[in-house]
Amino acid sequence: MLLSPQAERNWESLCSVLEDVLEDQSHRQLFALELGSGTGQHVIRFAQKMPFVTWQPSDIEEASRERNPEWGLPDIDVLRQHAYGNGLRLERMVEMEDYYKCLIFRKL
Ligand SMILES: C[S@@+](CC[C@H](N)C(=O)[O-])C[C@H]1O[C@@H](n2cnc3c(N)ncnc32)[C@H](O)[C@@H]1O
Repeated sequence: MLLSPQAERNWESLCSVLEDVLEDQSHRQLFALELGSGTGQHVIRFAQKMPFVTWQPSDIEEASRERNPEWGLPDIDVLRQHAYGNGLRLERMVEMEDYYKCLIFRKL
């Protein structure tokens, strides 16, 4: 099993962002897609803390981008365009520790 010390360090701050976004929504059945799920450590914590959400993990291995830079997501603007083309709007971008960002998209 893969374990990332970094994912272990920042899952609580990510959960805080998500709990804030999903405040007062626990009466609804929600669906969330996590991009860049990596080890899966985060999505497991999210599911434990927010069981009213059905979590769908997904990932494009970073190593595959070394083989073909066309794979994966080149930057936030492209991600935003892809999302918009698929009925999602970038609702919030939260700066996290270690220069990471948490991007929240919502269905239009
Ligand atoms: C820091 S990890 C996120 C941690 C993850 N949520 C976890 O629980 O382990 C970043 C993940 O995003 C993926 N990733 C990195 N760059 C990417 C890109 N340009 N496009 C798509 N996925 C990417 C990597 O494969 C990696 O698994």
